[in-house]
Parts: sequence; structure tokens; C-alpha cells
Amino acid sequence: MATLKPTISAIYFAASFFILYALTFSFFVHGRPATFLQDFRVTWSDSHIKQIDGGSAVQLILDQNSGCGFASNKKYLFGRVSMKIKLVPGDSAGTVTAFYMNSDTANVRDELDFEFLGNRSGQPYTVQTNVYAHGKGDREQRVNLWFDPSAGFHEYAIHWNHDRVYFFVDEVPVRVYKNNEAKGVPFPKLQPMGVYSTLWEADDWATRGGLEKIDWRQAPFYAYYKDFDIEGCSVPGPSTCASNTNNWWEGAAYKDLSPAQARLYKWVRTNHMIYDYCTDKARNPITPPECLDGI
Ligand SMILES: *[C@@H]1O[C@H](CO)[C@@H](O)[C@H](O)[C@H]1NC(C)=O
Repeated sequence: MATLKPTISAIYFAASFFILYALTFSFFVHGRPATFLQDFRVTWSDSHIKQIDGGSAVQLILDQNSGCGFASNKKYLFGRVSMKIKLVPGDSAGTVTAFYMNSDTANVRDELDFEFLGNRSGQPYTVQTNVYAHGKGDREQRVNLWFDPSAGFHEYAIHWNHDRVYFFVDEVPVRVYKNNEAKGVPFPKLQPMGVYSTLWEADDWATRGGLEKIDWRQAPFYAYYKDFDIEGCSVPGPSTCASNTNNWWEGAAYKDLSPAQARLYKWVRTNHMIYDYCTDKARNPITPPECLDGI
């Protein structure tokens, strides 16, 4: 008995350590995998969102009665959020599928946007990204996708840490917003953000300023989402999580693009970018300060 006792307490100690570790990672630092019901709720038109494959995927429906939307149950402060999305096929002009993070704070909103703008059959889909920090947006960039995003699922990710916000399409960086607080440019870092998705009609602006109109004869329009993955500091949660430099999304590899990623980013900007607020002199006669920092 005397020799067994320390062993038992060692096991007990190890077990409680393991439980603490498991609790920390399951409740505070949110990790994969996620099903729709575990992490999300319908926020707009229940009848237009269908869970498929046991909740591991959803179908979003847009028709003349309604679009639809869903949101995460929790908010997150820093992390990486990704989904695989199959966009509306064929004549999708006027439809907008969005995947974004939003602090939901009216006047000082932080928001990180992916908006997929449909097009006439055979014409390229446009991805618009935007960054709101402390209530200031108007930072749109547009990239035409180099593949047909309605032919299959592709991964779209927002990676957010203290140094950068990255937008990735299949691991290709299409947007990098640097922390330029030193230049007086606001950076989203104080407010947790929820994860949102919507499918709606916006042919008043999304088709090069309303040039093309949605063709309702093609309705209903469908978009599909799967492989929901949210890793980040959930709020409410321990206040120490967001500032923990050991969180993997804060790691050295994510302080800036690697040389290989920088090459891909340059390739996107050179070959596929169709709009950049930074170079829109009509809107910004004075170049915004964050635009002077290189790409
Ligand atoms: C649609 O296709 C046209 C013609 O290829 C292109 O100029 C435009 O950027 C595409 N995207 C949208 C949203 O109109």
C-alpha cells in the first residue's frame, strides 16, 4: 500500500491535469471540428436554410421570397475561421454570398468581409473584401476568381492576429491588412467578432454598380457550406486568452507572409485584382495611410 499511494496520487495528478487541459481547449480555445448546430444558429429565414449530411453541411436558398443567413453562437477575439463553400452556379448575377466576421457594435464596428458577387453564366465570380476598424470601412478590394467557385467546394479563411488580418482563398492570400497603428490607422483588436454568412440579392450594387439584374427565372439559387472551422478565443472566456502569444494563430509563421505566400499574393494582385480602394483617386484623393505600406 505504501508504495502504491504515490503512484495513485501521481495518476490522479496527471488525470486532473489532462482534464484541465481538455477543458481549456474545448471551452476556451475553440477548436475543430464543428458541426452547424454546435457552433451556429439561423439568423434569417429558417425555411431557406437546410442542414445536410447530419449537420456537417448546409444549403442556403435564395428565392423571390427571401434570402437567408446564419451566425455563430459565440464571438471570438483573434483566431482563424474557415469554411468550404460552393457558390451559386450558372447565371448568378445579382446574388451575393457573404462570409464575414462582425463585432455587432453599431458605431465602432469592426468587420472583416468576404463577399462573393455572382455573374452571368461563364463570367468570373468577383470576391470583394473589406475591413472595418473602429467604425471605419470603405476599404474594398475586388479580385476575380481564377477558377469556377460553383463547380466544387473551395476553402475561404479569415486569419486574424495582432499583426495582420489575412484573407485566404484555398490558402492563397488575396488580402492582407497590416497592423498600422503606429501610423494612426485603426486595427481591430479590442472587440470580439461573431462569424456570419448570408445569401441575398444585391443587384443594385454588386453587378458593377447595378449593370446586370438578377434573373429570377433561374431561382431558387443555392449555395453550400461545409467544414466549418473556428479556432480562436471565445468570448466570454478567460480574458488572458486573446493576449496569449502562444496561440498558434499568433505564431512566427503568421506575423507576415512567407516568401512563397508573398509570391502568390503578388500573382493575385497582378493578374486577378480588378479594384483597389487604395488606387481609387476619385474616392480617395489622398491615399489612405495604410496603402503606403506596400502590399
Ligand atoms: C463579371 O464579368 C465581367 C466580364 O468578364 C467582369 O468584368 C466583372 O468583373 C465580373 N464580375 C462582376 C461582379 O460583374
